[in-house]
Parts: sequence; structure tokens; C-alpha cells
Amino acid sequence: MPVDTKIINARILTQRGITRCGITIESGKIHRIASETSLPNAAKTVDIKGQVVLPGLIDVHVHLRDLDFSFKEDFHTGTCAAAAGGFTTVLDMPNTKPPTNSLLRLKEKIARASGKILVDVGFYSDFPKALRDFKFLKAFGAVAFKAHLLRPTTELNVDDDNVLRSAFEVAAKTKSLVSVHAEDRSLVTELESKFQAARDTLPAAYLKAHPPEAEIRAVERILRLTKGTHVHVHFAHVSTFKGLKLIMEAKQAGLPVTCEVTPHHLFLTDEDFYRLRGVALIIPPLRTRQDTLRLVSALKTGQVDLVASDHAPHRLDEKMRENIWEVTPGIPGLETTLPLLLTQFNRGRISLRRVIEVLSENPAKIFGFKTKGHLKTGYDADLTIVDLTKKFTIDSSKFYSKAKYSPFDGWEVIGKPVQTWVQGKLVMDDEMIVADPGTGRVIGVA
Ligand code: DOR
Ligand code: ZN
Repeated sequence: MPVDTKIINARILTQRGITRCGITIESGKIHRIASETSLPNAAKTVDIKGQVVLPGLIDVHVHLRDLDFSFKEDFHTGTCAAAAGGFTTVLDMPNTKPPTNSLLRLKEKIARASGKILVDVGFYSDFPKALRDFKFLKAFGAVAFKAHLLRPTTELNVDDDNVLRSAFEVAAKTKSLVSVHAEDRSLVTELESKFQAARDTLPAAYLKAHPPEAEIRAVERILRLTKGTHVHVHFAHVSTFKGLKLIMEAKQAGLPVTCEVTPHHLFLTDEDFYRLRGVALIIPPLRTRQDTLRLVSALKTGQVDLVASDHAPHRLDEKMRENIWEVTPGIPGLETTLPLLLTQFNRGRISLRRVIEVLSENPAKIFGFKTKGHLKTGYDADLTIVDLTKKFTIDSSKFYSKAKYSPFDGWEVIGKPVQTWVQGKLVMDDEMIVADPGTGRVIGVA
């Protein structure tokens, strides 16, 4: 009996460097990776002409929106953007309208997404109001929990240390990962009020209202509160070197903590924010050149666990407001993250091995996806096929995302996803979406 699919003229990264091979796929799983002559016949053969196959990329920080925010993005456009950007799995954040903070809301989201998604999607939940609901949310499919300390959408009072510690304890008991947005709410609120009262509406005031200290204080608070609970805390979008250092020290001391950085915090600075204003406005905000250089070096050396896009689409008019306090924070990142990292590879600043670690292997390991993150027999046939040498200019008008803006517009990049395969199905082929809505699966659901 022939297998379903055979990919020929492939190249993959092995311990011996980039090696030629073929890949066979059966029932959505990788069947075998070997020299072409030793592979069985297949119903369909695809020649990828020497392009490089990466294990399907996983973005653990994505705002697909949908529901009442469908005007910003919906499950279909968001997962088209994922496929176009080479991501085969994305994890969706709960700060939607309505927020995902109960079993009912999670069920609604899963039901709505199922027929619309093109790549695999896992859903975060907010902390539920009643802590006993943690285990039901987890059992029903929440892949992780989110604690947004600055703009919480949970009904729990996360400003209260005791409440937060109890939530961490319950999360630990249910073996749930908690992703934290670490910015100190009382400090930021106080500073925002001060600058707004003074009618200072310039980007510099926005940065002063979100100082590095806000991140550092929140990281310190979280590390203090998690001590002894054994909860796995994952720090989202770390933007300061001092914050990263605290996390690294905690890790060395044996705490189960991990962290992510975003491409915008790696490659853009406060200078870009002054120039681009609302288009580059995100929280936490862009930092100084010194911070970005140190984050890039931490990325290289392995101190950063993974890269996530924090794809946060908004409507253009929400980004273009003159008054900086009226701009909605967030930028779309699904369609720029991989080319930006491959450009670093092409410029000799980061190895291809490291790109695979931070975009595929480590996300799978940290979030516990046992059949993803590697090109191995029996794993999901999630493949990101890249043209490592393709040069192009980032142009947000071509995005599949509804958010047609990017602070990276006009950047010359080298390296492009050319095909995206999800569980053995070709979803994106040469910039075109070629699969039907519903091709992706909701992961984590029993
Ligand atoms: O810039 C941001 N946008 N940071 C967040 O924490 C939330 C996100 C959004 O949902 O738009
Ligand atoms: Zn986010």
C-alpha cells in the first residue's frame, strides 16, 4: 500500500548540517525521513526542489481576536496570516470581547474556531473567577492560562498578592502553565494619570509611563509569589535586560520559569517609536538600543527560551490617532517573524539550529506538545518549508491579517516561508492559501 504523500528533493538540518532527504507522510503524521531511494511509493509526490524543511513553527503568543473584535481579525484571517508566515500552530490569547475567562466562554470559542481555522490552534484561558474551575478549563482544552497584570480581563483581583498566589498554587496543582504580562499596574496607572493630566500626548510621555521599572517590579513580584508553589510561569514579551536577568537568575536557582521575546523588542528601539508613533505602539513599549542589543545576544546564547510574535492586530484608525493615549497598543507579527529571524541567520548573527529551537522545539517542549516541534517519525506532519535565500521587502498591504500595517514595512529581509503543511495537508503554497477553513484543529481538546 502506498503512503499518502512523499516530499522529494528536501533538505533538513541534522547534527551533520543541512542534508538532502525525502519525507513520507501517512495519516497526518511523519511516516519516514530518509534518502529518497529508501522511501516507499506514495499516492502523491511533491518535489520541493532543494528547499529547507523546518519542523512546523509554533507561535505561543497570538491574538486571533474574532467574536466582537472580528473587525480587527478573525479565526480565519488570523490563521491565514499564520500559515502565510510559516506557523503551523498558534496559541490564542484570552483578552477578547467577551474575554475567555470561564468554561462557557472557552467552549464558545472552540466551537466557533473549529470550522474556520487553517492551522492548529490552542486556546489560553484567563484565570477563572472560581479557582475550582481551573481543572475543568484545563480538562476541556485550555492549553495554558494568561495573567495580564496591566490590563487584566479576569474577574480575579490580580493586584492582590494573596489572590495571585492562590491562583498560582491551583495552576501548579493542575500542572498548568501561566503566561504573565509583567508590567506593574499601580506604577503605570500613576504615571499615566500624571502625564495625561499635564496633557503631554507625545511618544516620550508614553515611554515614561511604561518605564523599565514597571517590568522589573512585576517580574520581582511574580518571582516572589511563585516561590514554593512550583507553578510554571512563562514570562511573555520580556523587553528589558534587567527583567531578563532576574528571570535567568531565578531559572538558575531552580525555579520552573521560562520566557519569550518578540521580534519588535529585538529589532526596534524607542527611536522607531518616535518616528512611527502609533504604528509602533505596543505594551510593553519599545526600549533603548542597549536593551535590544542585549536581548539579541541573549537570544543567541540560549538565555531566551523562545520567540513569539505577540500578533496583536487592530484597525488602522485605532493606531493612527494623534493623541498617543488614544492609540490602541499592538502590532501584527505573524507574517514578519520568520523572515526577520531568517535574516539574522543570513547575516551570520544566529544559527539555523537556534531559529528552529526558539520557533519550534522550545515552544513545543515548554507548552507540552508531545507530537510537535521535531521532524521525526510519528510526529505531526507540520512542516514549514523555507527558501533561505529569497530576498524581499516587507509590505503590510499584502498581509493576510486584517491589520495592514507594520513597523517593519520597507525592511529588506532574506528568507521566506514557501509552503506550510499542517498535519500532512498543504495549507500555504507560494504565498497562496490553498486549504479550506477547518483544516486546522483545536489542540488540547480531549
Ligand atoms: O501591545 C499589546 N497589545 N500588548 C498587550 O499586552 C495586549 C495586546 C493586544 O491585545 O492588543
Ligand atoms: Zn499579547
